[in-house]
Amino acid sequence: MDKLVIEGGVPLQGEVTVSGAKNAALPIICAALLAETPLRLTSVPALRDVGTTYHLLEHMGVQVSKEGQNAVTLDASQITSHEAPYEMVKTMRASILVLGPLLARFGHARVSLPGGCAIGSRPVDLHIKGLKAMGAEIHIEHGYIEASTAHLPNKRLQGARIFMDLVTVTGTENLMMAAALAEGTTVLENAAREPEVVDMAECLIKMGARIEGVGTDVITVHGVERLKGTEHAIICDRIEAGTYMVAAAMSGGKVKLRNARADLLDAVIEKLREAGAHVEHDSDSITVTGNGRLKSVNIRTAPHPAFPTDMQAQFMALNTVADGAGHVVETIFENRFMHVQEMQRLGADIHVEGNTAIVRGVDHLDGATVMATDLRASASLVLAALVARGETTIERIYHLDRGYEKLEEKLTALGAKVRRVH
Ligand code: EPZ
Repeated sequence: MDKLVIEGGVPLQGEVTVSGAKNAALPIICAALLAETPLRLTSVPALRDVGTTYHLLEHMGVQVSKEGQNAVTLDASQITSHEAPYEMVKTMRASILVLGPLLARFGHARVSLPGGCAIGSRPVDLHIKGLKAMGAEIHIEHGYIEASTAHLPNKRLQGARIFMDLVTVTGTENLMMAAALAEGTTVLENAAREPEVVDMAECLIKMGARIEGVGTDVITVHGVERLKGTEHAIICDRIEAGTYMVAAAMSGGKVKLRNARADLLDAVIEKLREAGAHVEHDSDSITVTGNGRLKSVNIRTAPHPAFPTDMQAQFMALNTVADGAGHVVETIFENRFMHVQEMQRLGADIHVEGNTAIVRGVDHLDGATVMATDLRASASLVLAALVARGETTIERIYHLDRGYEKLEEKLTALGAKVRRVH
C-alpha cells in the first residue's frame, strides 16, 4: 500500500496544468459502446478509474488503442459480451454507466449491481426506473441487473417522459445515452446540470445524437437509428482545479492554474473570496493568491450550479485552520464525513451532528499518520497536511490515484515537500 509523506508549512508557488475531468471521461468512454465506428478522445486523464473503464470495455470486445497517456481510440464495432462482471464493477461504481448504452444498442445488458462505498449506499434505483419507463424488462437476481428489450417493437427502447425525483449525475448520463438510440422522444425532468453531463451530451451530439436542453434540468432526446464515432477533447476537471485552488489559499501561496475554467466554478470561487483569498481569472486559467489567515465559511452542498459535494471535504480542511467557526452541511450523500476523524487526529476541532459539521478554526494542525477513506476525503487530508506543522503520513492513497493525475509531481512542482513511499 503506497503512502504519501508530506512536510507542512510551505506556501505553494507557481503554475499547474489541470487534467481532463474524471467524471466526464468515465461516461464518455462508456458512450463509445453506442457508436458503430471509432470514437477518439483526447485530454483523457491518466487515472486508475479510467484504466478500469478501458479494461471493462475490452472485456466486452471494444478495441482500446491508447495513444500515450492522455488520448485513446475506442472501437465498439465488434462487441462480444454484454456483461459487466462483479469483480470489475465492485472496484468502480461508475461501471453502471455501461447499462444504458448496452441496452440501447444491443437490447441486452447484464451488469453487476454496484456495491455501496465509503460515502454512502449509492443506489441505482433511478437508473433502473428510467430504463423501465422506456420499456426495458429488468430483473435483479444474484446481484446482477438483467435488462432486455427483446419484447419491444423492433427490440428497441421507446422514448418516454421521465421525472427523476432526485438529481442524479450518472442516472442522467445513463438515461441520456439510452434515449439517444431509442425510438421516439425522451424527456428527462429534474435532470443533472453538472458540466460533465454537458460535456458528455456535446460528445453524443457530435456522434449524431439529437439532444436539447443540455445544462438545464429538462433534457429532451430525439432517438436516432445509429451513432458514429467522432473526436472529442474531455473538459477540464473542475474538482481537481478546486482542490489546487484551496491548497493555494490555505498555504498562503500564489498558484496559476492552466486549462481551468472559472465559469465551471462559480460557487467555489465565491466561497474562496468569502474566505479572504484573491481569485483572478481569464477564459482558460485561474490564479489564486492566499492572503494570510483565512476566514471560516459556511458550506451547503447541492447539485450544480450550487456548491459541489466533491469540494466539501476540501473546504472542511480550509475551515480547520481559518478564523472563526464554519458550518459544513452535506445534503447529497449520507456518509461523506469520513475525513472528520482523520482531521481530528491532526488536531482539528470538528463536531458532527447528522449531516452538519461545525468546524472551529485552530491556530495550527500538527502532523500525524492518517488514513484515506475515499477520493475527496484523501484530497482534504493532503490539504491539511500541506499546512500542518511537521510531517504527515497519509495511508491508502490508492483512493487519491483514482481521481488525481500526477498528484505528487504537480504538488512538488509548486514547492510542496511531498514524497510517495511504496
Ligand atoms: C457522481 O456520482 C460523481 N461520480 C460523484 O463523484 C459525485 O460526488 C456525484 O455525482 C454527485 O455530484 C461520477 O460522475 C462518476 P448521484 P453519482 O447519482 O452519479 C442518490 C467523485 O468524487 N441516488 O448524482 O453516483 C445518491 O445516493 C465522485 O469523483 C439515488 O438515490 O451520484 C446520492 O445521494 C464521488 N438513486 C444522490 O442521489 C439513484 O438511482 C446523488 O447521487 C441514483 C442516485
